[in-house]
Amino acid sequence: MRNYHIGFRCLGCNREFSVNEIEYTCPICGSNLDATYDYAAIKREVDPRQIASTADRSIWHYAPLLPQVPPESILQAPTPLSTVGWSPLYRAARLEASTNTRKIWLKDDTRLPSASFKDRASAMVVAYALNNGIETICCASTGNAASALSTMCSGTDVKSVIFCPEGTPEGKLAQTLIHGAKVYAVQGSYTQAVHLAQQAAQKFGWYNRNTGRNPYTREGKKTAGLEIAEQLGVGSATPFRAPDVVVVPVGDGNIISGIHKGFYDLHVLGWIEKMPKFIAVTASLAPSLYRAWQSGGEHCEEIPAQTIASGISVDVPEDGVAALRAVRNTGGIFVEATDEEMLEAVAIMAQQTSVFCEPSCAAAYVGLLKARQLGAIAANDEVVLQMTASGFKDLRSVLRVAAKPTVMRTLDQVVP
Ligand SMILES: Cc1ncc(COP(=O)(O)O)c(C=O)c1O
Ligand SMILES: [Zn+2]
Repeated sequence: MRNYHIGFRCLGCNREFSVNEIEYTCPICGSNLDATYDYAAIKREVDPRQIASTADRSIWHYAPLLPQVPPESILQAPTPLSTVGWSPLYRAARLEASTNTRKIWLKDDTRLPSASFKDRASAMVVAYALNNGIETICCASTGNAASALSTMCSGTDVKSVIFCPEGTPEGKLAQTLIHGAKVYAVQGSYTQAVHLAQQAAQKFGWYNRNTGRNPYTREGKKTAGLEIAEQLGVGSATPFRAPDVVVVPVGDGNIISGIHKGFYDLHVLGWIEKMPKFIAVTASLAPSLYRAWQSGGEHCEEIPAQTIASGISVDVPEDGVAALRAVRNTGGIFVEATDEEMLEAVAIMAQQTSVFCEPSCAAAYVGLLKARQLGAIAANDEVVLQMTASGFKDLRSVLRVAAKPTVMRTLDQVVP
């Protein structure tokens, strides 16, 4: 199949580069890059109905819109790479009633192989490694990207090396280790881990998956946007359809910019009629990106993060500019979630929907409430909440808000 990825555009200085000219960031100004496609050729040669009718429901279902497709032998094996994608999208009737909102959908990425959204980016980066004879991939991670990378490398010959801040939740670490990654627990923050991974990649010749700085991470993550549009298109006149609003928990800003990119591709191709509005939810105790939003600019200060929501605990976002543009260009807003609000949201999501969330994932619910109160989400809107990772990832946090079991020995202690 023909590949339509033609190069990269710098988000800082707008310079364009060809595919093979570049590995990570802009060589001129150091900013993150955005993959570019030959949209005119896709428009001419690809029928959206043909994509929708493709039987493969992994992220490679969208091969004409992606930069990398793994070798056929890997996809057919099958390996973890062929199992990422097409997470369910379902209505949350109780949330619709309690927030007086017409339609709320949950895009449930807790159901992906490693139980987090990060499988999408890791699958894309491992595909790149396989296509380019790369033996080792490293990355910094707050835990979910780590477990996703380690999971995606299983069943292939690619090795993974992880730099996680000390204190990364046990569930995430256990997964990462059991799938075979080499893990370094960094005595420092996630931001320090990011620098160490970058230096290690240079020193040892490893391929670096660092979120945002590796331009393929956003391309993997955009498959969630493509899937949402296709899932909403079922039963409508067109194969793809956009919701009014998408709510996304945000740390580095790469998930939100990825989902935005998916909708952007579809919009440029004329396959959806409008862009959804993006609502970004950051942790109050990881305020760098929120302050940049408030300032009206794009500069993000490094501010030590202290939130219990490990997935969105970043001192400085690695893909902040793209996240700010995703929100501003679609008329959205940023809202903040406190630790208490996210913990409470873990319980509410578990009780009102079927989704078992870690706090970073439950932040989407806090964002829904706040954006609804602020009028950024209207009663008549159709809203998608992006669910990003399972509660099994961070049981310690979940147990802080879960009821305790009643210890018993005999039946007379059981209350009817
Ligand atoms: C559970 C969870 N939700 C949301 C995010 C935020 O994604 P990003 O850092 O790309 O903004 C992460 C990132 O690690 C995460 O693990
Ligand atoms: Zn540049």
